[in-house]
Amino acid sequence: MIPSRISFDAEMLLFLALSFSAVIVTFCVGPTLAVAQSSNNNNNATTIPVNVGVVLDLETWVGQMGLSCITMSLSDFYSSNPSYKTRLVLNVRDSKRDEVAAAAAALDLIKNEQVQAIIGPQGSMQADFVIHLGNKSHVPIISFSATSPSLSSIRSSYFVRAAQNDSSQVNAISTVIQAFGWKEAVLVYVDNKFGEGIIPSLTNALEEVGTQVPYRSLISPSATDDQILQELYKLMTMQTRVFIVHMLPTLGSRLFAKAKEVGMMSEGYVWILTNGITDLLSSMDSSIVASSMQGVLGIKTYIPDTPSLDNFMARWKMKFQKENPSILNPTLNIFGYRAYDAARALAMAIEEMGTTNLTFQVMNASTNATDLDTIGVSQNGQKLLQELANMTFTGLTGNVRLVDGQLESSMFQIVNINGYAAREIGFWTLEKGLLRDLYSFNTSKYFINLISIIWPGDSTSVPKGWEISPNGKRLKILVPKKDSFFQFVTVTQDPSRNTFQVTGYCIDIFQAVIEKLPYDVAYDFIPFFFTDGSSAGSTYNDMIDQVFYKNYDAVVGDTTIIANRSLYVDFTLPYTESGVAMLVPYKDSKSKNAWVFLKPLTWDLWLTTGCFFVFIALVVWILEHQINEEFRGSIAHQVGTSFWFSFSTMVFAQSNHPSL
Ligand SMILES: *[C@@H]1O[C@H](CO)[C@@H](O)[C@H](O)[C@H]1NC(C)=O
Ligand SMILES: *[C@@H]1O[C@H](CO)[C@@H](O)[C@H](O)[C@H]1NC(C)=O
Ligand SMILES: *[C@@H]1O[C@H](CO)[C@@H](O)[C@H](O)[C@H]1NC(C)=O
Ligand SMILES: *[C@@H]1O[C@H](CO)[C@@H](O)[C@H](O)[C@H]1NC(C)=O
Repeated sequence: MIPSRISFDAEMLLFLALSFSAVIVTFCVGPTLAVAQSSNNNNNATTIPVNVGVVLDLETWVGQMGLSCITMSLSDFYSSNPSYKTRLVLNVRDSKRDEVAAAAAALDLIKNEQVQAIIGPQGSMQADFVIHLGNKSHVPIISFSATSPSLSSIRSSYFVRAAQNDSSQVNAISTVIQAFGWKEAVLVYVDNKFGEGIIPSLTNALEEVGTQVPYRSLISPSATDDQILQELYKLMTMQTRVFIVHMLPTLGSRLFAKAKEVGMMSEGYVWILTNGITDLLSSMDSSIVASSMQGVLGIKTYIPDTPSLDNFMARWKMKFQKENPSILNPTLNIFGYRAYDAARALAMAIEEMGTTNLTFQVMNASTNATDLDTIGVSQNGQKLLQELANMTFTGLTGNVRLVDGQLESSMFQIVNINGYAAREIGFWTLEKGLLRDLYSFNTSKYFINLISIIWPGDSTSVPKGWEISPNGKRLKILVPKKDSFFQFVTVTQDPSRNTFQVTGYCIDIFQAVIEKLPYDVAYDFIPFFFTDGSSAGSTYNDMIDQVFYKNYDAVVGDTTIIANRSLYVDFTLPYTESGVAMLVPYKDSKSKNAWVFLKPLTWDLWLTTGCFFVFIALVVWILEHQINEEFRGSIAHQVGTSFWFSFSTMVFAQSNHPSL
């Protein structure tokens, strides 16, 4: 191992380095930590330090892990490329989970440290303003964790997303929903830029597979437990039982704890997580996962397991444990890998770019200028951006290549949470849709091990995704009351109690169907009075209109299915024929006289017979007239003999020929 030296920036007063034995103990003093890497015998004098900024929420796990992966990435990179001229110097700022702190940190880095690029910020909300700052000062902002698609709408070319945006998974979600045939899904998401970023593309994807979104449930990032409960009760009263949850684990674990409390983690419910939670599941409180997230489905970004990844994980764990002995069993997740790759890409790009002109063009300060007015413009920003855009290499997460300033969508795993962890049940790729495993050649669209899924409530049967009357609502069913065809529906009024008794064939069928259903449906029959079929009176159309206007839930009766009506309401399959038939007169035009036997002898047949008559005569003549006296003489004689012969084949075929 190559010994490394970690020093603090000159302005930070302290220089601390231990001997070549490579174990370095560092104390964080002040906000700026500069990591300059050099190998043993490297000519340190010729390397040029290049300032870059890092803005992360250092109290969060993603922040801590990200930073350690970034430093490790740089030390790996420079120790394997000792001849490179540039060395990145990290200027780390803690954004303290605050948008303003992130903006202030970025401003400070750009203005005072004149950084060439900023890695971070961590969250999509923080990124919003920092992207504008980067755009103004031409400093590339490279975030490996701000995944909200809405950030792309800022249209800053100086924003580089070393990650996939959240929208890349929407087709995986909609395909899962389609595979199970759920027709409605409720979106539950955090009410901020991160949460709502995915919604337009997710709604579109669901619409494409014919799934409706009857309701969107927004949960404030600072919602109290009571507010979460209130929202859950609202969801409970709805018919839809499929919920797609897009939020971060902090809010998500509270949501699921409450959902468990009110009984929404029981049989019949379907919860689908976006990768917002599943990618960070390993860093979530495992007791919450085990107690209240059982049976949840999730979409998880898939990272192929490679030897270099395993190697990195082992080395990282050792290093991290050494530096932070207080953190037990640290777990890497995808953001660590992305941070590693992002730092490497940046180091490569800066090396490629060269170190000419690392300066900023500083604006002249007028008297009243604010900090933002006098922010400088990086002379190299455009060039650095070019280098980043052209960069391709094999990183920890596979091929790293930026398309439109972000990573391309890759594969997703479909997971099912059982016990303390998420179990893989299949994959989704853009080309092949759902797959049981990546290397199978079975490319049928929904080939996924559906049977192995354990749903909420430890159930193994696929939930149907809706509940007919979640809050004891009774269906209001119209039945026609009319003066004819009593066999179908008869409504008899009990005058004393003003109640109705409904019987008949249609009613029997309806009740048989209801009994077959695997759940209870409460309903009431409500008679619809027909007024005698006159044009002014009510008709079947009026009754159907009532269902169309949602005044009633259904109609049971002898309603004829006609094209116009089916535009307004859905019909069951027809279960009886109406019995109505049409009588029409039928005239038999076939003649029955004695000449009927001539009927098969058509004109074509007559013609063919005639042609053959001539043809045979001709053939006989050709064959015979050279050798047979009979076929010589005058033309009339020859023609006559030939035809006579031809005629005789029909008539005397069975006997000796008269003249031969
Ligand atoms: C700043 O002011 C100096 C002199 O006052 C002038 O030469 C220079 O062009 C100005 N620069 C800008 C960017 O306005
Ligand atoms: C600065 O602000 C003061 C008060 O608003 C104003 O009178 C003055 O003209 C401003 N100066 C410049 C250079 O804009
Ligand atoms: C998000 O990523 C997907 C797949 O890579 C891409 O098609 C889409 O345009 C991206 N959306 C935004 C807003 O960048
Ligand atoms: C078509 O059916 C609807 C629903 O029953 C009804 O309101 C409407 O009058 C019908 N239109 C025609 C042209 O029959």
